[in-house]
Amino acid sequence: MEIIVQETAEQASMLAARLIAKTISDKPDAVLGLPTGSTPLPLYKELIRIHKEENLDFSSVTSFNLDEYLGLGPEHPQSYHHFMYENLFNHINIPAENINIPDGLTENVPSFCIGYEQKIKDKGGIDIQLLGIGSDGHIGFNEPSSSLTSRTRIKTLTPNTIKDNARFFENESAVPRHVITMGLGTVMESRECILLAFGEAKAEAVRQSVEGPLCAMVPASVLQMHNRSRFFIDAEAASKLEKVEYYNWVFSNKPAWQQFEK
Ligand code: F6R
Repeated sequence: MEIIVQETAEQASMLAARLIAKTISDKPDAVLGLPTGSTPLPLYKELIRIHKEENLDFSSVTSFNLDEYLGLGPEHPQSYHHFMYENLFNHINIPAENINIPDGLTENVPSFCIGYEQKIKDKGGIDIQLLGIGSDGHIGFNEPSSSLTSRTRIKTLTPNTIKDNARFFENESAVPRHVITMGLGTVMESRECILLAFGEAKAEAVRQSVEGPLCAMVPASVLQMHNRSRFFIDAEAASKLEKVEYYNWVFSNKPAWQQFEK
């Protein structure tokens, strides 16, 4: 696990965007796992800029989104379909047929979930999985107590997450209760994980995920078991970490070949 602390969310997002851009340059048919929410917005902006100004080519890239609200169709302004097209897909040259997002209107959730897992396998697995984190430690919508080996399935949101996400809806009661989400086992099979966390509200979840025990009650702590996981966080999200000086020391003492392109 590598903990990369930058002063601001923008700085952390720029570094992580470079890493994703490099993955795509090295492997033009890379498979990306993508989140929604406020956290990845600066990174998506930077990927769009790199596409427009440096010709980063998404024409052979495939994407799989982590989750979607059940009951919301792709045209719903709060659906994750809508979010992804508005904030990324409409601005890059990824072909529509390469975009995969769980279907919030599926009539057969279990069968849809099996098919989603199969599609990821058929594409050769996810090369780089981008993640945000909930204030309760969730990744995707794997809420506390999610099995650490779970697969894509339906989940019920916690009242805490409904409250956190109410800012996107008219009020709390408009937030769907159910979602389809990739499981922790699905995320763990990706070849590389990048988790972004910004702001004080994420500091406790980051502390527990990085320095606490591996535990289903803190779903992001499963990343302690991933052999290539990196947290890109800002100073506020790092504010409760005990060993932050060590993480900074490691980052500034990387051998030249391991250093990040800025
Ligand atoms: C959404 C997702 C969630 C969010 C998390 C943080 O696709 O996977 O785990 O990353 O709820 O949301 P924000 O970024 O809005 O704080």
